[in-house]
Order: sequence, then structure tokens, then C-alpha cells
Amino acid sequence: MSENRVLSDILIKNGRLIDAASATDCIADIWIKDGKVEKIQKKEQADQNEKDETDVGSESMVIDAKGCFVMPGLIDLHVHFRDPGFTYKETIRTGAMAAAHGGVTTVCPMPNTKPVMDNPVIVKETVERSKKEACINVLPVGAVTIGQMGTEVTDIKGMVESGICAISEDGKSVMNSNVYREAMKIAKECEIPVMAHCEDINLVAGGVMNADSNADKLGLKGISNAVEDIIVARDILLAKETGVKLHLCHCSTKDSVRMVKEAKEDGINVTAEVCPHHFILSTDDIPENDGNYKMNPPLRSKEDVQALKEGLRDGIMEVISTDHAPHSEEEKGRGFEKSPFGIVGLETSAALTYTELVLTGYLTVMQMVEKMSYNPAKILGIDKGRIQEGCDADLMIFNPETEYEIDAKEFASMGKNTPFVGRKVKGKVEYTICSGKVVYPFS
Ligand code: DOR
Ligand code: ZN
Ligand code: ZN
Repeated sequence: MSENRVLSDILIKNGRLIDAASATDCIADIWIKDGKVEKIQKKEQADQNEKDETDVGSESMVIDAKGCFVMPGLIDLHVHFRDPGFTYKETIRTGAMAAAHGGVTTVCPMPNTKPVMDNPVIVKETVERSKKEACINVLPVGAVTIGQMGTEVTDIKGMVESGICAISEDGKSVMNSNVYREAMKIAKECEIPVMAHCEDINLVAGGVMNADSNADKLGLKGISNAVEDIIVARDILLAKETGVKLHLCHCSTKDSVRMVKEAKEDGINVTAEVCPHHFILSTDDIPENDGNYKMNPPLRSKEDVQALKEGLRDGIMEVISTDHAPHSEEEKGRGFEKSPFGIVGLETSAALTYTELVLTGYLTVMQMVEKMSYNPAKILGIDKGRIQEGCDADLMIFNPETEYEIDAKEFASMGKNTPFVGRKVKGKVEYTICSGKVVYPFS
């Protein structure tokens, strides 16, 4: 890759442009100016017109993207940045750098911070701080109830004015259906989605991994599929009643897929996401006593994993998000039973998705772009997730040929907690560009 980094104008030459919004898959040159995509020229046209990089001016940066995909910057609807309150795990700054390293240009951090993201003042502070501290776009998610206590609905309208993109009680479910329904009605009025973490807290009963023979062997308490499925069913019914845009977080069971399919057939406004760990690993992959395999929802059976992959393939599951959940090494080193739930994901999601779903034939590269950028933008109702003339210059350059083993030491995230250390993947983010600026490689 040749480059001479001077000003903000960039020419990306010879890349394979993948844009789901216009169903474009072609070799193109892309000019970026003042934070926007200024011009796109398909390669054949470029040759005809004899246009070359000299047209952009001698001060511009030129990236030769030959052999690489040029995709819209990824949009991760589900991350945890731990800021404020748990900044020993992650901060807005480090979380944003992890995103940039992973090709992600927009993230939605969940509200389970300390204090909880539950009022317009803290949302405004976070939005303002993100503008200063984050190298990518940060769109906070507001809590559904005050302090995530499940009883009193937050000032959703006020938080929307301060900049939230959605509401969620992630980390848990709002168990009181009436409280949840009230919040859904307001979210519907505000035209923002409700992002649902589906977990019947009474049914969990201290479970730490999937309820199956592996849990029995390890002597650990199980989390059955019904823990998720019951709340998925309830939330779909509440979405039907209120008309709110419901987005189901981190689906892990085959019945979740089935219910989403039926809900869509029924015309209900529902979308659903799957995380890489749930479509790659099963409960059979958990080695004894390794906290890096512990997350919520847990790794499920091979049958569930297969249903998730088919759900993604068939368009039922429209989003791939990470549930990036950093924890300290000490916390994750407490053994399976005692360590907190959650794994990091921002820096591995593109490579894992490409390796495990595209190279295996479950998804085309175009579908990968749809699920990791175009559909998330549609759900948020933001004008991103596409590469067309005049749109924000948020994009990433991905080399599909680079093979390597995942190494947590290379992460920009403060969290190194992932079960994918040492896993062989193909596909590397070479450049991430946000608002027309190169945010990865780090300068
Ligand atoms: O594994 C998880 N970790 N699942 C959640 O729902 C919450 C998250 C966290 O905040 O650590
Ligand atoms: Zn969750
Ligand atoms: Zn989460």
C-alpha cells in the first residue's frame, strides 16, 4: 500500500467497492473530500476518461486498495464501553479505537454504565465527550427504566433530544410487562427502536452456562433456552400491540429464529441480531474453567448454532453485532463460575464473519455488508451504511487474503477477554476511514 499522508483528501484506488444500498460490486476509484465521498468512478470508466490521482492534487493521500474490499464502515448496534463508572475495563476513547481497528465507524454503547445512562444530562455529557474522545461515531443507547431498576420509565423524550439512538435495558430484561409497554409506546412516538435483551430473570436461577450435559459434567448451573425464548415471545407480542420498532439483541436459540420468522410473516416490526460467538461456538467448545467462554446469553447447542447460521443466510436475522463486553484480566481469571458474563468482539467481528460465514458459503460479501452496516443504519434511521457520492465518508478497506491467528495483545481495547485467541482467520482490516479521516491505522 502506497501512501503520502498530508491532508484530509483521500483517493482510494482499484478497490472492490461493495455497497448494499445500490447493490454495487465493482472495481472503483473513490475520492474523499471534506468528510464526504466526493466521487466514485468505476474502473472501466476511469480508464476511458484517463482520470488519475493527479486530479486530486499533490497533497492528497493515495491508498492502493487492489485486491481489497472497500465497504461502508461497519455499524455495531451493541457494544459496552464502561464509561462512566468502569473505566478500568474500557473507556470511550479505547472502545472507539477498538472499533476503528475492527473497521467499525459507528457504535451504540449500552446504558449499563455507572451511573446508568438514564437521563438527558448524562446522555448529553456522553455525546459531548464522545465527540472529543472518540475517533468514530458514538450513538448512546438510553436505559428503559431509571437505574435499570425495572420500575420507573426514564425521560425517553428528553434523552432523545440529548442524542440517544434507541432505548434498551441491556444486561437484563424489564420484567414488568406493563412498565415495558409504557416505554415502548413512548419509543414508538419518538421513532426510536427498542433493543431487547431477552432473559427471564426468574428462570435463570443462578445459571452460568447452557443447560445441558456439559453443564452437568462441569457441575455448573444451567441457563435453558426458555430463559431467552419466553421473553422473545413476550417482546414480539408487545411490539405487535404497540407498533414499536423492536430489535432483539444477541439471539442465541433456534426458537428465537423461528419466532422472528413468524413475527415478520405476521407483519410485526421486528429485527434481530446474532453475535459471532453464537454463530461460531457451541457449548461443546467450552474448555474446563475458562471465563473467556462465559457470556450472556451463553454458548448454545450445535443445533442452535446451525439455526442461527441458517437464519442469517435466509435473511431472517438481519444484523451481526458484537455485544463487545470488556472485563479486566483479573475478573475473567476468576474461573467460569465466578467470572462476569461477556467477551470483547469489536476487533474480531469482520474477520470472524468473513471466515466463518462468507468463506463457508452462508453469506455473500454483499450480505456481510448488509448485516454489518446497511441494515444497522436502516434500523437506526441514520444516513450511513452506504458508499455513494455525497454521503459521509465512513468506510473500511478489508484485505480478504490475509491469514493470521487472533492475538489479543494486538487489541486496542482494554479488554482482552475473548475465546478466539489463537483462532485462524482470513481477512484483515487495512484502513478505517471515518468522516473522511483515517482512524486506523492509528497515527
Ligand atoms: O455477556 C454479557 N455481557 N451480556 C450482557 O447482557 C451484558 C454484558 C456486559 O455488560 O458485560
Ligand atoms: Zn444483553
Ligand atoms: Zn450487551
